[in-house]
Amino acid sequence: MNALPATRLPTWRLTDLRPTPGDILGDTLAGLSMSPRRLPSKYFYDARGSKLFEQITRQPEYYPTRVELGLLEDRVADIACAVGPNVHVVEYGSGSGRKTRLLLEALNHPVAYTPIEISRSTVLESTARLAEEFPHIEMLPVCADFTRPVTLPEPLQDARSTLVFFPGSTLGNFVDDDAVTLLAAMRETMGPHGQALIGIDLDKDPSLLEAAYNDAAGVTAQFTLNLLTRLNREIGSDFDIDAFMHRAVYARERGRIETDLVSLQGQTVHVAGRAFEFAAGEAMRVEYSCKYTDERFAALAARAGLRVVDGWNDPRDWFGLRLLQA
Ligand code: AVJ
Repeated sequence: MNALPATRLPTWRLTDLRPTPGDILGDTLAGLSMSPRRLPSKYFYDARGSKLFEQITRQPEYYPTRVELGLLEDRVADIACAVGPNVHVVEYGSGSGRKTRLLLEALNHPVAYTPIEISRSTVLESTARLAEEFPHIEMLPVCADFTRPVTLPEPLQDARSTLVFFPGSTLGNFVDDDAVTLLAAMRETMGPHGQALIGIDLDKDPSLLEAAYNDAAGVTAQFTLNLLTRLNREIGSDFDIDAFMHRAVYARERGRIETDLVSLQGQTVHVAGRAFEFAAGEAMRVEYSCKYTDERFAALAARAGLRVVDGWNDPRDWFGLRLLQA
């Protein structure tokens, strides 16, 4: 009988930290009771919302995904050199995509890969795909909420350090105070010798930014309005989808895209037996997408006890990757 080759890895399994599910009804009622009203953008990503986001990334005006991919393709060798060998790669969000693949291929002997995802099914699917492509990297997927500190599973092989990978400028969806909370949680998750590689969308010409969030084909508008469709289905609200309009504006002073759903008429919306009056033209804030200068991002990191030790931009300085350490 042949012994198993020494390099054979055990079949991977999920570490389920049982994240508390979002309180979609409570969050909606709270947001509708605020003035001005708001709804949380974290509920955009149901099955249809995730498909629509995919479609957004293929719109000619929506540059971030394309530019970040190009940047990684061009600079991943330098990034791998800066990161160093034998790291445990921990990705915030599901790692089904090409960015993960580029990074894992370029790194010098990564010992394990841990995607952290709130959705069990998403993290299982993406891990299954990557396990086939990277049979020599130990897969240690975790179902958890990455906005809080996460106790990571231990790789079989000792890692020199942890590398948190957080691409996509998802950090930009968090207003500064919340971004600092998330970065501080990240610092705890990665430990005192850990590093983080974060994708950030950079401050630029407002017309480019506004085009990216108001694509001509109207996919972003559908994506935003899908939030109301989801609420109607999941909490039994009666939002009239045709009576609201998507509007995304770049607020230069605050360095962020602010996306609203604007009521096209006076109307009443019912949620869980409560009535909410909307005036014609009333705006409900549904999303922020922060755009960073180097100074602003470094200041944010510093508030979380992190410093920027290296960075890479695409040739037009539209998008950046930053390497952080405690
Ligand atoms: C998923 C955070 C990268 O803010 O650019 C795209 C979400 N919203 N168009 C972004 C989004 C509208 C997107 N991220």
